Amino acid sequence: DEDAREESAVKSQRSNAKTPLTLPITPSRYDAPFPFYRRPAEVGRFSLDSQRCYHGDARQLRYYAPPPTEGPSPGFDLRDGYRDRYVQRDESIREGLEHLLQWIAQNQKQLQAAEEKGQLLNTDFVTWRGHLTKVLTTPYEKQDGWLLAVSLFRGTLYISEFETESARKQREQRPELLKELTYMGYKFEHYVCADTPDGIPDPTGVVNTNEGFCTVIRTRLGTHSLLFSGEVDCTDPRSPWPDPPSCYVELKTSKVMHSPAQRKSFYRHKMIKWWAQSFLPGVSRIVAGYRGPDGSVVGLETFETMKIFQLIREDPSCWKPAVCMNFCAAFLSFVKKVVTEDNPKLVHLFAWEPGHPVSFTVHRDSEYTFLPDWYVEALSS
Ligand code: A3P
Ligand code: MG
Ligand code: MG
Repeated sequence: DEDAREESAVKSQRSNAKTPLTLPITPSRYDAPFPFYRRPAEVGRFSLDSQRCYHGDARQLRYYAPPPTEGPSPGFDLRDGYRDRYVQRDESIREGLEHLLQWIAQNQKQLQAAEEKGQLLNTDFVTWRGHLTKVLTTPYEKQDGWLLAVSLFRGTLYISEFETESARKQREQRPELLKELTYMGYKFEHYVCADTPDGIPDPTGVVNTNEGFCTVIRTRLGTHSLLFSGEVDCTDPRSPWPDPPSCYVELKTSKVMHSPAQRKSFYRHKMIKWWAQSFLPGVSRIVAGYRGPDGSVVGLETFETMKIFQLIREDPSCWKPAVCMNFCAAFLSFVKKVVTEDNPKLVHLFAWEPGHPVSFTVHRDSEYTFLPDWYVEALSS
């Protein structure tokens, strides 16, 4: 509530006069050279099965198997199975960092290899790739705000998202048309992925959104070391870059475009999210399936993640990758300055709404505490 927010803000200002209370998001402030970003390295993998159960292996990894000639009209019917072959993950269940923490707990010896300065896991931050994607696109986002909870535990800052009120309402009142579009995004994966490296896709099965394959990535942005995980759609067994994460392919669907103006708008508003999502973990290619009005795929297009900045450079009022990355580095610096008490029950909740700077509130032993007891114990023994 307002009073508690005010109080906590004043307290933290007293404790350190140099700690700023908010972080501006204005793009021009971050329009500087591209910051250092170390080549992302895969340090682990895990899978979630059809019942959303964790497995510390790559059993859910699928293999990219595009139609023989990339080009117009593969004719995939993305609506097929929506009524009768669709099992949806229960989105009202908050998972938090759970599965990633499970991977960390099981692999902590590997991470501790070079333990230093009281930092058990040898990383400044642990989070989901999807949370960082939202941070990257913040300077340009006009619609959706976010809430990111942060706790410092044994020298590492954990970042876990909480759903905003407005996101919850949108999810609960999602129109039928949008539900079907969401299904179509997943269905596309079934038309271009096989279960084995030399297999062919079988689009007759059930689409189950509980299933997923996740990569665990270590990298560095400026002065911040990062450990994050992200869901990966498939790997290309014939990729020119055979090693993960470069061999991974991100699959996307989008409405077919007919004019240069439509393409320009697609680059401005959609490509930023596609780029941020794949650039962070070093996924080198994005394959777009273009949807016709009847829900069939009328064409495929492959984007190389590292070449996207060349596509958007021609439009001077478009988003800039450097702004996204510099803002992310600034946000992580802000978090480091604000969150200094090592305590898994203490949460700083960073909040952002379009048109405002990033602000935060402080919560002790509240409903925002997100590091589970089993995890705290697993890393304390
Ligand atoms: P699209 O790829 O066509 O957007 P991802 O692309 O990240 O692998 O996600 C696969 C699909 O999940 C998406 O297909 C979309 O249908 C659905 N999806 C992902 N994020 C979503 C979100 N925030 N809201 C609704 N649906 C989402
Ligand atoms: Mg995916
Ligand atoms: Mg995808």
